[in-house]
Amino acid sequence: MSKKRVLSGIQPTHDSFHLGNYLGALKQWVALQKDNDAFYCVVDLHALTVETDPKLLERRTLLSAAQLIAIGVDPKQCTLFIQSHVPAHNQLAWVLECLTGFGEAGRMTQFKDKSQKGGNDRTNVGLFTYPILQAADILLYQADFVPVGEDQRQHIELTRDLGQRFNSKYKEVFNIPQAQIIKSLAKINDLQDPTAKMSKSANSMSGVIELLDLPEVTIKKFKSSVTDTGKEVKYDEKEKAGISNLLTIHSAFSGKSIKDIESEFAGKGYGDFKTQVGEIVVAALDPIRKRTEELMGDQSELLRILKSGADKANEVASKTLADAYAALGLIKNG
Ligand code: AMP
Ligand code: TRP
Repeated sequence: MSKKRVLSGIQPTHDSFHLGNYLGALKQWVALQKDNDAFYCVVDLHALTVETDPKLLERRTLLSAAQLIAIGVDPKQCTLFIQSHVPAHNQLAWVLECLTGFGEAGRMTQFKDKSQKGGNDRTNVGLFTYPILQAADILLYQADFVPVGEDQRQHIELTRDLGQRFNSKYKEVFNIPQAQIIKSLAKINDLQDPTAKMSKSANSMSGVIELLDLPEVTIKKFKSSVTDTGKEVKYDEKEKAGISNLLTIHSAFSGKSIKDIESEFAGKGYGDFKTQVGEIVVAALDPIRKRTEELMGDQSELLRILKSGADKANEVASKTLADAYAALGLIKNG
C-alpha cells in the first residue's frame, strides 16, 4: 500500500510553542510522519499578514523549525521546510485567487474575526487572501490529509472547493485533500484560568507553559497554578477545573491513567501534586529546550537541514505548478 501524503503548516508568530500546541497538535505531526509521506512547513509568508520586526521574524522562523525538530519531527522521516523557500506557493496562490469569488473569501470566519479586531486601517489584503495561499500550500503537494485544529476546517473546505473548481474547469491536476481535524489528545487549559484554553494570546503568560521556559519558571508556574478550596486530587471538570487540567497534563506526559494518578495522590495535598506535575513536565521539556538551543547554536546545520527539505518540496511543488500552468494555457518558456 502506498503511503498517504500528509501536509500541515504552522506560523512562526511566537518565540516558543506552548503546551497546548504541543499536546494538541504537534505531537500528532510526529506520530503521523511514521506511516505517511509527511510534508511540514513553517509558514513564514502567512506570518507577514501580521506586521513583525524583520529580525524577530527571522529568529522565530528558525526557532519554530528548531523546536519542531527538537520535539521529534524528523527531517529523515518527513520533509520539513520553510514556505518562502518554495516559490511555487505564491505562484499557485495567484492562480487560485483568480478562481476565488470575492464574497467567498469574505465569508471566511477567521478573516472576519481578525479584520474586525484589527479595524479597516490594519486589515491588509494579505489577510483576505491568506486562506488562498493556504490552499496553494496544500494543493501543490497533492495532499491526502491535512491535520489541523477545528478552527481551520473552513480553510480546508475552501481548499477542496478551489481544487475541484480547477479540476473541473481545466484539467484534473489536483488531488482533493481531506481535513483531518485533530481531536486534541488533550485539551489543555490555562493554569491561572483553568476554564479557558491555554493560548498564546492570553493576557498573562503566568498560566501558559512554553516549551522553551527554563525549568525553574515551569516549576513556579505549576506551583502557583489555580486550583480550588478542596483537598482531593480527583478529576471533576466542573468543580475542580484546575486539578482536572493538571491531571490531564500529568497523564499526557507520564502515560498513566487518570485513575492511577488519583489513587497515587489519595490522602496527599495539592502541593505535592502540583510539584510532581511540574517535575514531570520539566523532565519532558528540558531535553526539548536543550535540543532547540543546540540547533539554534549551529544555524548552518539547521539551514542545511531546511535546504534539503526545501529541495524535496520544490521538486514536488514545481511539477504540480507546471501541470497547472499548462492546463491554464500559460505558455512554457522554451
Ligand atoms: P494556534 O497556534 O493557537 O493556532 O494553535 C495551533 C494548534 O495547536 C491548534 O490548531 C490546536 O490544534 C493546538 N492547540 C492550541 N492551543 C491548544 C490547547 N490549549 N489545547 C489543545 N490544543 C491546542
Ligand atoms: N492557517 C494555519 C493555522 O493558522 C496555518 C497553515 C498555513 C496551514 N498553511 C497551512 C495549516 C497548510 C495546514 C496546511 O493554523
